[in-house]
Amino acid sequence: MGDLEVTTDGLAVPEGDGLDGRVALVTGGGSRDEGIGTGRAAAVLLARAGARVLVVDRDVDAADQTVEMVTAAGGEAASFAADVTSNDDCAAMVTEAMRRWGRLDVLDNNVGIGSRHRLLDETDERWDRLWRVNVHSMVLATRHAVSAMAASGDGGAVVNVSSISALRPRGLTAYSTTKGAVIALTKAAAVDCAPLGVRVNCVAPGPAYTPMVAAGGMSDEARERRRLSTPLGMEGNGWDVGQAVLFLASARARWITGQVLVVDGGVTLTAAARDL
Ligand SMILES: NC(=O)c1ccc[n+]([C@@H]2O[C@H](COP(=O)([O-])OP(=O)(O)OC[C@H]3O[C@@H](n4cnc5c(N)ncnc54)[C@H](O)[C@@H]3O)[C@@H](O)[C@H]2O)c1
Repeated sequence: MGDLEVTTDGLAVPEGDGLDGRVALVTGGGSRDEGIGTGRAAAVLLARAGARVLVVDRDVDAADQTVEMVTAAGGEAASFAADVTSNDDCAAMVTEAMRRWGRLDVLDNNVGIGSRHRLLDETDERWDRLWRVNVHSMVLATRHAVSAMAASGDGGAVVNVSSISALRPRGLTAYSTTKGAVIALTKAAAVDCAPLGVRVNCVAPGPAYTPMVAAGGMSDEARERRRLSTPLGMEGNGWDVGQAVLFLASARARWITGQVLVVDGGVTLTAAARDL
């Protein structure tokens, strides 16, 4: 029988959860209007932990607003315009992070779009679009980002944004399928990237109230019904998802890879009443 080793290396989590001086890239880091989307929240929280953050969005004005929020919070960030469905843009955003700050440690693959159609109503065009935006973009971004992380020799962390629709679909077949693929991608990439010291995890948010949801139009009654369907009786928002991303990106999660962190106030535990 081996001797019990008394180790302390996992006990002390460094300043800023190990993110101080690191570099993070958040895709879809802008948000509609003044609201707090999951990418904007993650960007602000990562910066507050000490990371320098490249806020990537195809809407550069939205990314600029996030940068302003980071700056106001005393952090450092820059915006970058890119469409993550383009391989060239994904290469360019990683090159920009390396040019500015000389390293890349965290990738938050946050971009995702929805489709409210049922299987029989969904068009091939929308299927293709959802696959390209929700899944293929993550493959492209991860490939470029992990190459850069490997070059630093310090490993890194990728956090993909899935959805509880992958675990407990309520129809929306194209969306649920792509978000399920994000989970499979996370697990497979975690194995592929482990030898490089890069952890790959994902968050599966529930019905958080974000600008995307608000823009889709939701009545106060529907919002209240949604809140009550949550065992915690609490409405989640972009910050709740951002905190989970921060945790998975941090040194606290150093031995966690290939996992799905559900962030939903407990909705998937009961969910029968969830119809939104
Ligand atoms: N809001 C929720 O309740 C909820 C629930 C589960 C999962 N999610 C997931 O969280 C993520 C973000 O959701 P949100 O509600 O914060 O969305 P959002 O629409 O508020 O923000 C997404 C950002 O991504 C950008 N974007 C979209 N397509 C892009 C592209 N091709 N290239 C670059 N940028 C692009 C948009 O301009 C926008 O700023 C998505 O992956 C979504 O599926 C959200």
